[in-house]
Amino acid sequence: LARGVREPDLAGRHVVVSAGGTREPLDPVRFLGNRSSGKQGYALARTAAARGARVTLIAANTGLPDPAGVDVVQVGTAVQLREAVLKAAADADAVVMAAAVADFRPAAYAAGKIKKKDDQEPDPIVLLRNPDILAEISAERARPGQVVVGFAAETDDVLANGRAKLRRKGCDLLVVNEVGERKTFGSEENEAVVLGADGSETPVPHGPKEALAETVWDLVTRRLG
Ligand code: CTP
Ligand code: CA
Repeated sequence: LARGVREPDLAGRHVVVSAGGTREPLDPVRFLGNRSSGKQGYALARTAAARGARVTLIAANTGLPDPAGVDVVQVGTAVQLREAVLKAAADADAVVMAAAVADFRPAAYAAGKIKKKDDQEPDPIVLLRNPDILAEISAERARPGQVVVGFAAETDDVLANGRAKLRRKGCDLLVVNEVGERKTFGSEENEAVVLGADGSETPVPHGPKEALAETVWDLVTRRLG
């Protein structure tokens, strides 16, 4: 192989990556959302395709151009993301949940734009819990040996919270990164620790999101055997 050209170690594999952030509508013009850009998920999709995988990218509100050679499914809400991920995961060797999934959605959707009323405070927004997609696919592996990877952005006690979350979710790998006002969101770079259910800890130094993506696929490939 030429220098800089990767061995196609994911050839013959189907991988599913979710990216972006879900939006939970309140009315036709408003939603509850988050600051996820989708860049890390797209980097995962691009690098997996470059390593020979068939890639399904479930994209939530990223506005990013479709990566070449990748099947892209556009979704809006957490419920739609769940549908699309479960469908694609049915024959997948690995599923990577890089999307930021809203934990809650408004209990009611107003078909018309919500208007303010004179001299009256607004009604509180009642929320319902969204399904936990990562916990669900981890508990009910669509195929034996399917590798499931989660992402967690933490602001405090990053490693301790990450370990607890890995156990709670039941996934094989959890990529944990520290976030704050000026860290990670929308940026081209990332810094993380990849925690394994086997107790392993793989630090990934500050660098391009592609480098973190390559490390994730290295760890996934090792687990696929
Ligand atoms: N995730 C998911 N479904 C949800 C919420 C999160 O699949 N309803 C996935 C995310 O895609 C991510 C991982 O779970 O891969 C961790 O997300 P995070 O928000 O950190 O986990 P939560 O369990 O929601 O914990 P927290 O209360 O800290 O938000
Ligand atoms: Ca959450």
